[in-house]
Amino acid sequence: MVKVKILPDKENASAEVAQELYDLIVEKPDAVIGVATGSTPELAYELLAEKVKANNIDVSQLQFFALDEYINLPWDHPESYHSVINRTVTVPLGVDPSQVHVPEAPDDAAEGPVRYYDEQIEAAGGIDVQLLGIGRNGHIGFNEPGTPFDAPTHVGRLTDMTRQDNSRFFDSVEEVPPLAVTQGIGTILKSRKAILMAFGDAKADAIRDSLAQPPAEERPGSGLQLHSDCIFYLDEAAAAKVDSELLKVN
Ligand code: PGA
Repeated sequence: MVKVKILPDKENASAEVAQELYDLIVEKPDAVIGVATGSTPELAYELLAEKVKANNIDVSQLQFFALDEYINLPWDHPESYHSVINRTVTVPLGVDPSQVHVPEAPDDAAEGPVRYYDEQIEAAGGIDVQLLGIGRNGHIGFNEPGTPFDAPTHVGRLTDMTRQDNSRFFDSVEEVPPLAVTQGIGTILKSRKAILMAFGDAKADAIRDSLAQPPAEERPGSGLQLHSDCIFYLDEAAAAKVDSELLKVN
């Protein structure tokens, strides 16, 4: 089931998400947190790190599991998710890199399951809170339309739209790797709580398709309707195409 919270803007929504994460960390110092990359969660990470520092919170027992990573992009490339998570989560929060896990697959990996990562998540006790963004085509992680809802962590192929959207982080679209390793929707559905953030009108169609239509694999975000505890934090622009009657029900 998905709850929806609409805030006037990204700043307010990010502050609420940062507070939720902060409360979790204070209550459960060994919490396991799933972290997303992309522009959307960056402000929430910044605000969380400020709170953690200001209140001198012990972060030494936390564990983090990144949602995804490109294949065949060196980890020291500034846009690898190893680098991005290090820059936005590990360093600002002051956690040891050994507490932060990013999925990995060899440069010549073929499409298919990558089971060790789900096993690592399970061995850590499962994910308490999984953060998510959403692509314009509704993807969550790199689970592109058509990905089975029970997929484990796997290597998958990016759509042209996703490579085009992510080319803003690279010099050209050709430089965006065509393959990535991603937690599967099955992995995401096992998290105890999922928090999806979406801001701006470019996400309005994906949000409508995730909430207002029955779950279907061509709409990856709609798979979150099958999650036992999921909340969408939206700004008004991202929520603009969702019928207000539906939001009342939620
Ligand atoms: P964004 O990406 O946060 O950079 O918009 C979201 C996504 O593609 O999942």
